Amino acid sequence: MVAWLPIAGPGAAAEYAVAPAEVLAGAPARVELADAAALPSVALTAWQALFEHAGLSAGQSVLINGAGGAVGGYAVQFAAQAGASVTATAGPGSAERVASYGAGRVIDYTATPVVEAVAGERFDVVLNLVFLPQQEELDKLVDLVVDGGVFANTVPPGVAQTGRGVRNAQVFGRSDAARLAELVAKVDASEVRVHVAQRRPLAELRGVHEDLAVFKLAGKTVVVP
Ligand SMILES: NC(=O)c1ccc[n+]([C@@H]2O[C@H](COP(=O)([O-])OP(=O)(O)OC[C@H]3O[C@@H](n4cnc5c(N)ncnc54)[C@H](OP(=O)(O)O)[C@@H]3O)[C@@H](O)[C@H]2O)c1
Repeated sequence: MVAWLPIAGPGAAAEYAVAPAEVLAGAPARVELADAAALPSVALTAWQALFEHAGLSAGQSVLINGAGGAVGGYAVQFAAQAGASVTATAGPGSAERVASYGAGRVIDYTATPVVEAVAGERFDVVLNLVFLPQQEELDKLVDLVVDGGVFANTVPPGVAQTGRGVRNAQVFGRSDAARLAELVAKVDASEVRVHVAQRRPLAELRGVHEDLAVFKLAGKTVVVP
């Protein structure tokens, strides 16, 4: 089974956990059971951001900032499959994978800031997945949204305000077992790829948290027994 359980307090890592039945969906058969852990929270967040918050539809354009990460990988796949035109930012280590997910254009943000690379262009939807400490950096991304478009953001604190009819959607992913079951079916049909950045043994859990604390864990790390 796979599930997305909200983090409600200090926790632990364990091989088994108790979960309410209504948040569970059958795990995909096409990937290793442990690797299935790389699906629920990030894929649901990507889906909800694009379709429930931003209302993305076929023929629209979307900029996905931070597409090299776990949420971004699913967002690119879902947006491209929905018939949107996808522009994505990714570093050199992820660019090829992001392109293979269906991004029509991949911008290497380590070489050129995205706002420069797309200067003069605007998108129906901008999905931001990158922590940007300066409000002005977020504002520059909002400027890339067409009048009346949507700026969707998964990262706090989010933008203070938007103009030109741009809707600001601050995304908080939530558990949705029915949607998760649909995403699992897409994995089993080879329509959606699950990317695992690292697999590390439970005995290394401390090191995993240490890496996380210094932002060295991009993508999904799966802890295996
Ligand atoms: N609100 C919610 O419900 C929710 C749910 C899930 C996640 N989140 C948040 O959403 C964000 C993304 O999550 P995630 O799991 O995808 O994170 P992740 O796997 O750690 O991915 C982060 C990616 O951001 C890319 N990146 C870093 N700096 C960048 C920059 N300046 N421009 C463009 N890309 C840059 C890196 O890509 P490269 O590898 O290509 O260099 C990295 O892989 C995180 O802040 C996370 O906390 C929120």
